[in-house]
Amino acid sequence: MKRLIMTAFAIAILSSAAYADTIKIGVIGPFSGPFALQGKNFKAGIDAWLAVNGNEIGGNDIQIVYRDVPQADPAQSKSLAQELIVREGVQYLAGFYFTPDAMAATPLLQQGNVPMVVMNAATSSIVTASPYVVRTSFTMWQNTTPIAKVAKDQGVTKVITLVSDYGPGIDAENAFKTAFEKEGGQVVEAIRMPLSTNDFAPLMQRVKDSGAEALFSFLPSGPPTLAFVKAYNDNGLKAAGIKFFATGDLTPESDLPALGDAALGLTTTYHYAVSHDSPENKAFVAAAEKAIGNPAELTFPAVGAYDGMYVISRMIEATGGKKDAKKAIEAVKGLAWTSPRGPVAIDPESRHITQNVYLREVARDESGKYINKEIQTFEKQGDPGLAFVKK
Ligand code: PHB
Repeated sequence: MKRLIMTAFAIAILSSAAYADTIKIGVIGPFSGPFALQGKNFKAGIDAWLAVNGNEIGGNDIQIVYRDVPQADPAQSKSLAQELIVREGVQYLAGFYFTPDAMAATPLLQQGNVPMVVMNAATSSIVTASPYVVRTSFTMWQNTTPIAKVAKDQGVTKVITLVSDYGPGIDAENAFKTAFEKEGGQVVEAIRMPLSTNDFAPLMQRVKDSGAEALFSFLPSGPPTLAFVKAYNDNGLKAAGIKFFATGDLTPESDLPALGDAALGLTTTYHYAVSHDSPENKAFVAAAEKAIGNPAELTFPAVGAYDGMYVISRMIEATGGKKDAKKAIEAVKGLAWTSPRGPVAIDPESRHITQNVYLREVARDESGKYINKEIQTFEKQGDPGLAFVKK
């Protein structure tokens, strides 16, 4: 009898070692279609984190389950999130490139007992939609507010804003106007462009006709931003003396070779540049370049994903691998660490990431590579947009 018990015990131990619990993380993003490169950057950031830290967290094997939502599509995002929670049994939801996709999945979190780690979507209100959301990316208010000050410091007083007509675009428009008017500047015209806009030449004419000394713009990073910046360069705005201000969404490193010398000098504010000079970033870039395959494709969603994985790892440790969304979220409130982008912390009130925002200029490095060269730091920026979210 004793021997039998001992054997059963040994088998139990052996099997628990051999079959450690597998924790599934469901990641929703654009993995095909026009924004596939942005999804590829999510995957590169996640793979880089797993390569550096290993595939096991607190004795649990980690499995990433990807679901593809090619363009902003809240209905598809919600149904895939539901499938991930119910059928796949994921313990965490993560990714979310587009705001509408993140928003649509937030009503599922509480009942599903699943935290959401937003790795990109940047509308301020997402964190207020559910107490189970944490964000490791940025917000439009956070990255836009400093560029309004930069514009005014450069002597610009009249600006025209052009933004994509959805959540983050509207946040960017409001953030720019609020901060620029506070500095004594004036927004002479505010244009909202349908997300489907791909011909920007007529808009460039409107910019010229507006009497503005500069434009401020936001579009979701990807094919629309490349086309927009090309239109700015090709339609003689620079030659007409109209300055360009934007968040870094418009000058992702992956677009710079295609824009070429015409992009030199474009000024943006953003939370991350691939060229950021720190040991943490060097280590991250080495791992992420390896993960993505083609180093020229590496850009910002990768760092949101990498840091998102760190946050999830701390949640898994805090819950001992058990499904407990509330405990997981509580564990990362106030969490501070050194990200590849610089020092960051999860604000315990909002669950959004506090971080430096950098002023950058498109330049060439010593090797001739186009980079977003950091020239000024706005330290420890929170999200000014939260004060404007309708309660
Ligand atoms: C968003 O939909 O929230 C979004 C998408 C792309 C960006 C920034 C924000 O570059």
